[in-house]
Amino acid sequence: MSKILWGGATASSQYEGGFDGEKGMDTQDCRPYLPRTSNATTETRLLTKKVIDKAKDENSDLFYPFRKGSRGVDFLEEDIELLAEMGIDLYRFSISWSRLFPNGDELTPNEAGVEYYDRVFKLLKEKNIKIFLTMNHYAVPLNIVEKYDGWKNKETINLYMRFSEYVLTRWGEYVEYFLPFNEINAGYFSPYNGVGLVKEEDGNYSFTDVFQSLHHQFVSSAKTIKLAREMGIKGTFGSMISCFCYYPLTPKPEDNLKLVQDEQVNQWFCMDVLSKGEYPYYMTPFFKKNDVVLDITEEEMQLLKDYTCDFVSFSYYSSSISTTDEDGKQTAGNLVVTTKNPYLKASEWGWQIDPVGLRTTLNKVYDRYQKPVIISENGFGANDVLEADGSIHDPYRIDYFEQHFAEILKGKEDGVDVRAYIAWGIIDIVSAGSCEMAKRYGVVYVDADSEGNGDYKRYKKDSFTWYKNFIEEQKKG
Ligand code: BG6
Repeated sequence: MSKILWGGATASSQYEGGFDGEKGMDTQDCRPYLPRTSNATTETRLLTKKVIDKAKDENSDLFYPFRKGSRGVDFLEEDIELLAEMGIDLYRFSISWSRLFPNGDELTPNEAGVEYYDRVFKLLKEKNIKIFLTMNHYAVPLNIVEKYDGWKNKETINLYMRFSEYVLTRWGEYVEYFLPFNEINAGYFSPYNGVGLVKEEDGNYSFTDVFQSLHHQFVSSAKTIKLAREMGIKGTFGSMISCFCYYPLTPKPEDNLKLVQDEQVNQWFCMDVLSKGEYPYYMTPFFKKNDVVLDITEEEMQLLKDYTCDFVSFSYYSSSISTTDEDGKQTAGNLVVTTKNPYLKASEWGWQIDPVGLRTTLNKVYDRYQKPVIISENGFGANDVLEADGSIHDPYRIDYFEQHFAEILKGKEDGVDVRAYIAWGIIDIVSAGSCEMAKRYGVVYVDADSEGNGDYKRYKKDSFTWYKNFIEEQKKG
């Protein structure tokens, strides 16, 4: 079996910045930083029209952190030097749709955006770093949301195809692994981020809108694979879900059944469609129970069948609990809330640390899909401290890496075809869940706070050297 590639990742909206005059406004640019309160994550994640209108108002008194990101556009050369020094095999990044097509519906791309990504691809090639390209990581041009209702509209498939055709034509030859959509199941548990749906004032999302939007992303993914095959593009195409590694709270049969149902709808559904090319049986009763009625054509179903993904990938940060008992103590998870597990410690943000859960997830994913597996996101979000001498001591992150990497290697020994591991937010970036800089994943520190103060200078954390050494060892071994 081939060796695991060790990598690092960022996402355009969280990393790039370069907002004023350089790109169109997108859905992430409208999310303000709200100092951490118990529901800040929810408020900044499920957006209403009122919040968006305020974001568009030049006199808004709020800070919009995604507009600055980590100022990646200004630090690009230095950052890629750092990635090269670290010795990573693979860099995962995403293209900002609104940097390329500011309104999403232009016929030709924005030249400044093309030039920026030309530089990114060229620099990575010079450094011999392989590319894992996320074509769309959450952010959608705001115009698509306001004029077309986001992914709810079939027309958005055509707009996405214009974007993806451009990306494949101009940069397709540089890419090893393509991912049409980040964490596609986010459309279900976080509809604004995932599928660009705006929440009714004090209301909820309609399930029909959510699943219709997801269907349009499935079709876009299949169409992109079809186009790439016709163009003779060499890279392989994947799908990605966020994995939650559920445990039943008790051996009560009802808790175990709940686990199966939670996994099906929250976790497997999207990957089942993208990997197997058809809607799974368990969604029929779910749709019936929730009055979901979808507009799906035979031609679309044929596309899904004919153009399934080549590899499967997932994000894994922590594990979750399934229970029918609604009174259990809650803790936060990756854009979702779960019940506390008494056997696990949690991060400052309540994410439960569970390395064994990663090995379990690797086995479950491989068992279900039998396709090469990539861990496309994993890491530890913490409030690091920059010392006066420029050092950052993050033993907790090294510990997290050490334990998780050991489980990945065991997963490989179990026989899972693990192709790559990609450390999330390898250079500190704005948190996608809580819109703050304070929750840092990087092995490179970015000197800025959650309100955008600071010079954004880069500093190596202790984990930088640790990861570098680990990668070197893996290459020797
Ligand atoms: C995943 C996303 O959900 O988790 C990333 O794909 C995100 O964009 C990551 O940053 C970690 O979540 P958070 O909320 O800690 O940034």
